[in-house]
Amino acid sequence: MVDVELADVQGFIVRGYTMPVARYFGLSVRESTGARAFLTTLVGSDPMVPSITTAQPWAMKPEYCVNLGITFRGLAALGVPPGSLTSFPVEYCEGAVARAANVGDVGTSAPDQWLRWLVDPELQLLLMLSAQSGSALDAATKRLEQSWSTSCVELGRHDGASLPDDVAHFGYRDGISQPTIEGVPLAGLPDHLPPAPLGEFLLGYPSQFDQFSYPVPEPPELGINGSFAAFRVLEQDVAAFAEFVSQQALTTGLSEELIEAKLCGRWRNGTPLVLSPDTDTPEPPIPPEAMNDFDYIGQYDDQRGYRCPIGSHIRRMNPRGQRVAGDAGHLHRIVRRGIAYGPPYDPEHPRDGQSRGLLGLFIGISLHDQFEFLMTQWANDGIFTAGLGRTNDPLIGAQANGAGTFSIPQAAGSVTLQGLTRFVTTRGGAYCFLPSISAIRYLATLA
Ligand code: HEM
Repeated sequence: MVDVELADVQGFIVRGYTMPVARYFGLSVRESTGARAFLTTLVGSDPMVPSITTAQPWAMKPEYCVNLGITFRGLAALGVPPGSLTSFPVEYCEGAVARAANVGDVGTSAPDQWLRWLVDPELQLLLMLSAQSGSALDAATKRLEQSWSTSCVELGRHDGASLPDDVAHFGYRDGISQPTIEGVPLAGLPDHLPPAPLGEFLLGYPSQFDQFSYPVPEPPELGINGSFAAFRVLEQDVAAFAEFVSQQALTTGLSEELIEAKLCGRWRNGTPLVLSPDTDTPEPPIPPEAMNDFDYIGQYDDQRGYRCPIGSHIRRMNPRGQRVAGDAGHLHRIVRRGIAYGPPYDPEHPRDGQSRGLLGLFIGISLHDQFEFLMTQWANDGIFTAGLGRTNDPLIGAQANGAGTFSIPQAAGSVTLQGLTRFVTTRGGAYCFLPSISAIRYLATLA
C-alpha cells in the first residue's frame, strides 16, 4: 500500500463534501506578487480567510470547503518559469477551449456559445466554494473577495444548489458511484471492483497501467500530490428529455420509468438495473451499501445487456469487467464532483426559458486518458464494444438533433429508440491543475 500525506492533498480529489450550495469563481491575476500573497492566505497564513480544504478526515463537518484549480495561463501568470510550464501535459496546456471539438463540444456546445468568462483567455484561477448554507456561502465569499481584491479580478461566477433527494435535473439520483482509491479512506460505496491505484488520481504514484507512473510536472514540489480536473457547465434540456421519453413510451409500449432506467443504467431512485432489471423497488430491498456493488459479468452475466443496456450512460462511462477494446474497462475511471444549478424543472411549465443543469468537475491524473477518453471513445462513439455501432451516450452524447438511436436489448428481440436528440449542451469548461497544499506554498514563493 502506498502512503500519501492526506493533509497535502486537496480534499475534493478523494472525497465528496455533500454540501447543498456551491459557488465557482473565475479569476484573472492582475498583479502577480499580490496574487501569490493571496495563495498564502488560502493555505492558512490568515485565519480570517477561508483556507483550502484538505483530504484529512475532519472531526466535525465544516461550514464550508474551498478548493483551487489553476489553468495553464494561471501558472504562467503566477510566475512559473517556462522550463516548468513545458513539463505539463499538452492537453492541459492547450486548455478546454482549444480541445472542445475533441470531446464533442461542437455546434450548440461549441465555445462560441459558452459563457463569456469561460472563454476568456485570461481565466487563470478557478476557486471553488461549497457550503452547508447560503449564509455560510455568502460569508466565505465576502472574506475571499476581500483577500483577492487587490491582486485579481473576477471574470465571472456560477452558483449551484442541490435539488431535493440528491437528484440531477433529469430526475435520477446521482453521486452514487465513485472509484475506490487505494491508500485513502473509503469515501464512496464499497464494491468488489479492482481499486484504483493512487497514481490514477494523484501525481507521483504508480498508475493503473503496468509499471507506469504519469510524469510529474517539474519541479516535484509543484507536481507531486497534484491532479487535474475538467470543469464543465452542462445545461440540461429537461423538457426535451421528458418529451422524448413519453413519445418513446407511446411508440414502444414500454413504461416511461423503464425507458429512463434503460437510458441511464439505474432507475430514478438509483437502483442499478443489473441488480434489479424489472422494478425500482425489489423485494427484499437492496441495502444502501450494496447499491454500487455489481458487475456486468460474473454473477449476472449480462454480456448482451438484457438487464442493463450496453449503451446506457453508466455502462458506457464505467464498463467495469465487460469486454471492451483494449481490456480498458477498469483503466479510465474518473472522480465526479457535481452540483445542480438552476431552478427545479416544473412539468407544468416545461419551456420556462430558465437555464438548468450540472456544474461538474471530472477529476483524474490525465485529462487525456480519463475525461477526454470517456467523452471521445465511450460517450461519443460505440466501437469500443460489440453491439453499439457508431452510437452516442443517450444522456450526454453529442448526437445530431433527432438523429440518435438507442438499443434496448431483449431476449425476444431488441427495441430501438429513434430520434434521440442532444439533451445536454456544454455552456463552458476549463481545464485545471489541482495543486497540492505544498505546491500552493511553492507557488507563493516564486518571484
Ligand atoms: C448533465 C450531465 C450528466 C448527467 C445528467 C449525468 C447523470 C448520471 C447519473 C444519473 C449517473 C448514475 C449515478 C451514479 O452512478 O453515481 C451517472 C453516473 C456516471 N456518470 Fe454521468 N451524468 C452527466 C455527465 C457525465 C459526464 C460528462 C461524464 C464523464 C465525463 C459522466 C460520467 C459518469 C460516470 C463515470 C458515472 C458512474 C458510472 C459507474 O461507475 O457505474 N457523467 N451520471
